[in-house]
Amino acid sequence: MITGVPAVLSPTCHIADLVVFGGTGDLSMRKLLPALFHSDLEGRLAPETRVIAMSRGGLTDADFRGKVDAEVRAAVPDDAEAWQRFLGRLYHVSVDVGGDDDSGWSDLVKMLAGHEDRDRVFYLASPPMTFGPFCRELQQAGLVTPRSRVVLEKPLGRDLVSAQRINDEVGEIFDEQQVFRIDHYLGKETVQNLLVLRFANAFLEPIWNSLWIDHVQITAAETVGTPGRRGYYDHAGALRDMVQNHLLQLLTLVAMEPPARNDREAIRDEKVKVLQSLRPIVGTEVDRFTVRGQYTGTRDMPSYLDEPASTPPTEASRRVETFTAIRAEVKNWRWAGVPFYLRTGKRMPYRRSEIVIQFKDVPHSIFPGGTPNRLVLRLQPEEGIELHIMAKEPGAGETLLKPVPLSLSFGKTFTARVPEAYERLLSDVLAGNPTLFMRRDEVEAAWRWIDPILAAWESSAELPEPYPAGTTGPAGAHELLGRSGRAWHEEEA
Ligand code: BG6
Repeated sequence: MITGVPAVLSPTCHIADLVVFGGTGDLSMRKLLPALFHSDLEGRLAPETRVIAMSRGGLTDADFRGKVDAEVRAAVPDDAEAWQRFLGRLYHVSVDVGGDDDSGWSDLVKMLAGHEDRDRVFYLASPPMTFGPFCRELQQAGLVTPRSRVVLEKPLGRDLVSAQRINDEVGEIFDEQQVFRIDHYLGKETVQNLLVLRFANAFLEPIWNSLWIDHVQITAAETVGTPGRRGYYDHAGALRDMVQNHLLQLLTLVAMEPPARNDREAIRDEKVKVLQSLRPIVGTEVDRFTVRGQYTGTRDMPSYLDEPASTPPTEASRRVETFTAIRAEVKNWRWAGVPFYLRTGKRMPYRRSEIVIQFKDVPHSIFPGGTPNRLVLRLQPEEGIELHIMAKEPGAGETLLKPVPLSLSFGKTFTARVPEAYERLLSDVLAGNPTLFMRRDEVEAAWRWIDPILAAWESSAELPEPYPAGTTGPAGAHELLGRSGRAWHEEEA
């Protein structure tokens, strides 16, 4: 029973049944349920909306609520009444994936019966090979209604062919309009702000091109390693785990043309054109334009191969990259000749995701010691925007220049709580708005560009370059920029 309702209900909240496959897993407990609780607290869930977790766990509804109470409550704001109301929305159905017992499906049918008029969201937080089979099961059980949507978590395949297969299988059951492919980076506040910055301010557009911009850097650095994740990571690596999705999505938002409207198709049409304009990196160019690394151990931190894992390292573990840097190029009128440097790594010295737009130098300098302007869009840890301009250091005598930031910190400027990426994305799924989700052609265009790099790495006899845990990556990453006289953002004075 759901008791009490929040004071103000958002006009966009539809009554929904949200069915989460993998509903007791890590993603669900750490991200989805806290995000849903916040939505509930802020009046963005209709009172009748239910969350139905599907798992192998053999839990009753009461067990599941107890588990959520024990594991999630401490991570969300303390509001006893709202929490009880939220727990009342939760249900659990046990499903025997791939087994003979299909009673779980009939339990789900019973639970959803009579609610065909609700929005039905099937959230597949399960491995990608289950996406097709689960969609078929849902259809065979008669659960797919015109108001249904399916949400697919990454990874969406491990190359173009497997991604196409998943998309075909899902596409047999759901129309493209009903498919929501998650890339949680698109739910981050600064990422959405990038669109506002670019398309709601007049002054940037005239200089947002190769005449004024020297290069772009996109970095997603993490301090964490991969403890307990080797099973997944050995077969993913940084390129599939972070570049194919998150970093390329950021690149599309930086490079896209102004869309005609702020609507789902107009924005995604422009993004896909950027992916299609990426210059392929093939054959021997892969060595020149890409770098891969793997972290080695230090006194305080284990190497990738020594991270705790349930199985010992294999040949795949020795070959997998925990760091990658790539020099990409967008071949169109706006960006011809402007390198886009992408970089991501585990066990770096800091956690930082940012986009750096490096402008060209002044055409003719009348002061000594100036440096070119730079715009830094920081996604995390503290979301903000900084424009580095040259200023005169105060004082009589010689004019001394100093780069100083014009800073906008979202935390300091806006008092409203910044929602977690999943909160925004789940609200959009429930409201049926797919703008921040990847369309099929986007995902496939991204794989089309990634595949030749993967192929070259897989056929190479060389192993990833080692870099000590806690450092900024292997020497090759610095040479990638250094050979054209450039440097990664943090390396400059
Ligand atoms: C996930 C990757 O998609 O993104 C993880 O699978 C990575 O390996 C995570 O740690 C990073 O997300 P965030 O939001 O912490 O930058």
